[in-house]
Parts: sequence; C-alpha cells; structure tokens
Amino acid sequence: MQQPVRIAPSILSADFAKLGQEVRAIDEAGGDYIHIDIMDGHFVPNLTLGPAVVAALRPHSSRPFDVHLMIAPVDSYIPAYADAGADIITVHPESGPHLHRTLQLIKSLGKKAGVALNPATPLDVLDHVLDELDLILVMSVNPGFGGQAFIPSALAKIAELRKRIDASGRTIDLEVDGGINTETAPKAIAAGADVLVAGSASFKGGPQAYATNIQGLRGPAVDAGRTGGG
Ligand code: DX5
Ligand code: ZN
Repeated sequence: MQQPVRIAPSILSADFAKLGQEVRAIDEAGGDYIHIDIMDGHFVPNLTLGPAVVAALRPHSSRPFDVHLMIAPVDSYIPAYADAGADIITVHPESGPHLHRTLQLIKSLGKKAGVALNPATPLDVLDHVLDELDLILVMSVNPGFGGQAFIPSALAKIAELRKRIDASGRTIDLEVDGGINTETAPKAIAAGADVLVAGSASFKGGPQAYATNIQGLRGPAVDAGRTGGG
C-alpha cells in the first residue's frame, strides 16, 4: 500500500561549506529522511562524500539517513557507511556481480536495504530480491548530478512498481529521485511514489525557505489526504 508521503531532501544541493548546519536546518524544516548521495567518480561522473563525512553529520539529525551509494564495486564500502550511521543503504544492481549477496550484507549489518533503478534499468532485476527489500528507488534522472530535468518514463515505472509492491503485501518504500519539484511531485505521487527525494527543490533560497520548499512538495499529498506530516 502507498504509505504517507515523505520528503527526502538530498544534501547534494546543500552548502557543503556548512553541511552540519544545513542538515540541522533541513531536519527542522520538516525533511523526513536525509538523503545522502555517495558518488565515486567511476560508477557516476562525480565525486562526493566519504563515510567520515556521514559520521560527522550523524549528530546533527535524528531523522533516518537514506544513503544512496553510487559506487562500483560497492560491497567493500557498505560496512563503513553502516558504521557511519546510515539507516537505509541503497545500491544499484550494476554496482556488483551479486545483488542478492549485497542486500544480505546490508541486512546483516542491521540496516534497511534498497535497490536503485537507473532510467534504462528494467524492473525484472527485482523479481527475485523483493523479499530482501525495504525500499525501491526509481531514478528519474541519470545519476551523478543534482538539478537535472525529470525523465517522464519514470512515471510508468513507478506505477508498475506500485502494483508489484502491493501484490507482494510487503511494506516497501517507493522512492523517486531526480528532477522533483512542485510540478513533478504530484505526478510521482499519483503514479504511486511515497518517498520523494528533492535536492535543488529543497535547498533553493537558503535556510529561511526550506520549510516552505518542503511543504510545497508535500502540498499535493496533503490535498490527497496521504501525508504523514514531518
Ligand atoms: C542524482 C542524485 C539525486 C540528486 C537529486 O544522482 O541521486 O539525489 O541529488 O537532485 P535534484 O532533486 O536537484 O534533481
Ligand atoms: Zn540520490
């Protein structure tokens, strides 16, 4: 079942010179999950944060740290991000040869496990791992950068996944990541998403705008009576 809509601000769009304050500010503004994009300069053409930075951010928020790993090969880095304070660890199926084993590793560390699907990645990669999953992330841009335009074919993917999750009877977050703003958020929610990652749309305008930004993304969910609040 589609759960209350939650907003996951991506700190990729925060001011990196004051990341702790930014995490605190976005938490106080009502962000539900703190989405942390980890990029290796190899799986994706950008470099971001090591586990030491995630550990340094941990005291700044008690919200779930939703850690999106764009690293290949990924397995050897998972324990470090788990120790750093990740609550949910999401991997791409292309980032290692044994997706099932990778998910088992995440679960063995007591963390929630997610799989991220690139725009060109088909859904059948999930067929035999659904029982291991707490979250499915649908990329609505190609991973690597914030501020890109939403790819509309993600909507059909979300709708199909909504059916598959509901048929499974399991509670699995259906998260959409990339190009989410006040125009695309209602479409993603209508298609069946229940966690919206938003980088540039959350952090635009500086800290005084964060609460309004997040409320604006949640707005359509409030209207639909599906929000869980902050
Ligand atoms: C892209 C990242 C996203 C990114 C989204 O690879 O996974 O989380 O921060 O940024 P916006 O919301 O600006 O598209
Ligand atoms: Zn992300």
